[in-house]
Amino acid sequence: AAPTRYEAESSPAVCSGSVDSNWSGFTGSGFCNGTNSTSGYVQFTVNAAAAGTATLGVRFANGTTTTRPANLVVNGTTTQSPSFEGTGAWSTWVTKTFSVPVNAGSNTVRLNPTTSGGLPNIDHLDF
Ligand code: GCU
Repeated sequence: AAPTRYEAESSPAVCSGSVDSNWSGFTGSGFCNGTNSTSGYVQFTVNAAAAGTATLGVRFANGTTTTRPANLVVNGTTTQSPSFEGTGAWSTWVTKTFSVPVNAGSNTVRLNPTTSGGLPNIDHLDF
């Protein structure tokens, strides 16, 4: 089935920072600009038809030349620690995909930044 898109700026997602729209190329009505700190997270709540391994696509932009690593936390457990490298510009969006374990029904998918730069700007999650 085609993935469902969950926008970072819209409920049920939670953006610990500001919802901005000042850089072009986002989908929906904006993107999540998490605070520049390790507490500037974004959390999605997604629905899975069945338990198993699912593919997530995270669309982000990082206009700096410094990688912004984060923990990818699913239902409270860190599954991996991706790097979100510079994309060249804040208006250049890149999608990274991840395989994660999910439960049937509702799941939380959270990105917790691990450095003081915080997260890149996050546009959406495809699930
Ligand atoms: C700039 C940019 C923001 C970005 C921020 C950051 O201020 O305009 O969109 O979130 O840098 O460093 O995270």
